[in-house]
Amino acid sequence: MKAVVIAPGERDSDRLVELPDPVPAEGELLVEVLSVGVDGTDDELVAGEYGEAPAGEEHLVIGHESLGRVREPAGGLSAGQLVAAIVRRPDPVPCLNCAHDEWDYCLNGRYTERGIKGRHGFLAEYYTERPEYVVAVPDELASVGMVVEPTTIGEKALEQVETIQRRLTWRPQRALVTGAGPIGLLAAALLALRDLEVVVYDKAESGPKLDLVGELGARYVQADSLPLGHDLAGEVGPIDIAIEATGFSPLGFGLLDTIGPNGVAVLTGVSGGGRRSELPVDHLNLEAVLHNKVLVGTVNADRANFEAAVRDLAAVQERWPGWLDRMITRRVPLERYSEALSRGPQDVKVVVDVAAS
Ligand code: BGC
Ligand code: ZN
Repeated sequence: MKAVVIAPGERDSDRLVELPDPVPAEGELLVEVLSVGVDGTDDELVAGEYGEAPAGEEHLVIGHESLGRVREPAGGLSAGQLVAAIVRRPDPVPCLNCAHDEWDYCLNGRYTERGIKGRHGFLAEYYTERPEYVVAVPDELASVGMVVEPTTIGEKALEQVETIQRRLTWRPQRALVTGAGPIGLLAAALLALRDLEVVVYDKAESGPKLDLVGELGARYVQADSLPLGHDLAGEVGPIDIAIEATGFSPLGFGLLDTIGPNGVAVLTGVSGGGRRSELPVDHLNLEAVLHNKVLVGTVNADRANFEAAVRDLAAVQERWPGWLDRMITRRVPLERYSEALSRGPQDVKVVVDVAAS
């Protein structure tokens, strides 16, 4: 089969290669890959900044946002069923959380991630997997099911918000999303689906992001027009939930100021750099203390988050028909996968159509 591999740690080592077709072990599924979404983590992998090959191997098959079709059934999933694969696998020890299927809360960092860390990914024509690590996707999501994985980031963020806010009586009305990339837009859709008033804050001055935000009935705020903090809250009203999806860390910490009393801000951006920044820490500390504010980080997702993502995407598809398809601004065949690795200002989600090739 054809697959895209990298040599982890080496810059621009990506190439399309021929690998033996995988053979499912007893109880495993064989899945034909239909399409794979590309994101910032893939850019880091290709830049040699992140990633790990499986033990004893030199190359890693990349790709972690997958949609595929079952070819050889197992575990109650029939042939022909669309599936999205879970990314992370528990560490071998396992730690307390991995032992409870909470691999996204792994304590020792020895978890693996398909297409990222120690396990081959899905940017290939086939993969094999145990049925408990895939979720069924309905046929209505056939053109967009590869966004299940990025949607799970928002699902876990909202799950954390709900859990944390059980501390008080809470009727959230307004949510802020910083960053209108795929993670931010999908999170905005999840919030709009919950009938919150949604504000999306991003640098883009024109292009598809603004339209996509508008179609959700959400409000778009161009970053240069209004600084975050009290200015934004003064303009739009108190913010109950903020989801940070830019990875720009000064902005993330500043959300402690932006959110309203009893609010929660969730950081989702992986900031790999070494940036230093001067922040009004006494003020932020005071805001957090006097107004019971919470700043929480989140990474990855568990099986329940994947199942919630499938349900919510089906609801998004029904409520805003075509919105998810419009979020996918470019699709390239497997042979031209490298074009998906460079994305421009007009791109939101870029997808490699593996089966079309
Ligand atoms: C993936 C997560 C993963 C993280 C860190 C992200 O791109 O969506 O599932 O945990 O990278 O490797
Ligand atoms: Zn663990």
